[in-house]
Amino acid sequence: MTTADILPFFRAWIANPLQVAAVAPSGAALAELMTRDITPDSGPVLELGPGTGAFTRALLARGVRECDLTLVEYGSDFARLLSHRFPAARVRWMDAAQLAPAGLFDDAPAGTVISGLPLLSMPPRKVMAILSGAFASLRQGGSFYQFTYGPNCPVPRRILDRLGLKATRTGRALLNVPPAAVYRISRRPPLRLLATSA
Ligand SMILES: C[S@@+](CC[C@H](N)C(=O)[O-])C[C@H]1O[C@@H](n2cnc3c(N)ncnc32)[C@H](O)[C@@H]1O
Repeated sequence: MTTADILPFFRAWIANPLQVAAVAPSGAALAELMTRDITPDSGPVLELGPGTGAFTRALLARGVRECDLTLVEYGSDFARLLSHRFPAARVRWMDAAQLAPAGLFDDAPAGTVISGLPLLSMPPRKVMAILSGAFASLRQGGSFYQFTYGPNCPVPRRILDRLGLKATRTGRALLNVPPAAVYRISRRPPLRLLATSA
């Protein structure tokens, strides 16, 4: 987090606390944990709710090319700031719940989704639209990374079941303020019929 990020973030939180859901951008420990599995081959990367770009910078440091980043942000000031900071990335000022109709990855699917979205403050219907749009954009074997300040995965179990997904906690960033946990959400392997011998 740079000092230049603190003021725009705090201003956005005052204007819309439920949408921003944090008073300051994520710190280095959480950005490190969110992007730990990322390699230059993880792209194209779809980032949801990048804010001022705390995870975006960590993705670039992991070797993802800026032109392989799609940044989906609902806050207009954040979207403008991101376009300025990451001119080679594709920045979309839009609601992440509209991913499916937007068809951003119809030509080449994403390899990874990194989400800073405040899922805990969203109604289940919206969480469902975001997850289903994100997994429609992801190639087979691709993963969706989500952080939370809560004690459990912020995607309700019934939504995971409905979409055929599983969530695994990858770690906790205790040094973040407030402390956070990261979950990797991926498709469940298809059920295989057991061969029965007569
Ligand atoms: C907790 S902040 C995280 C920002 C940044 N990823 C970080 O960790 O510092 C949540 C971000 O999600 C954005 N956001 C909230 N709802 C959204 C939605 N429906 N679609 C896209 N972005 C959204 C907010 O504007 C904000 O930038």
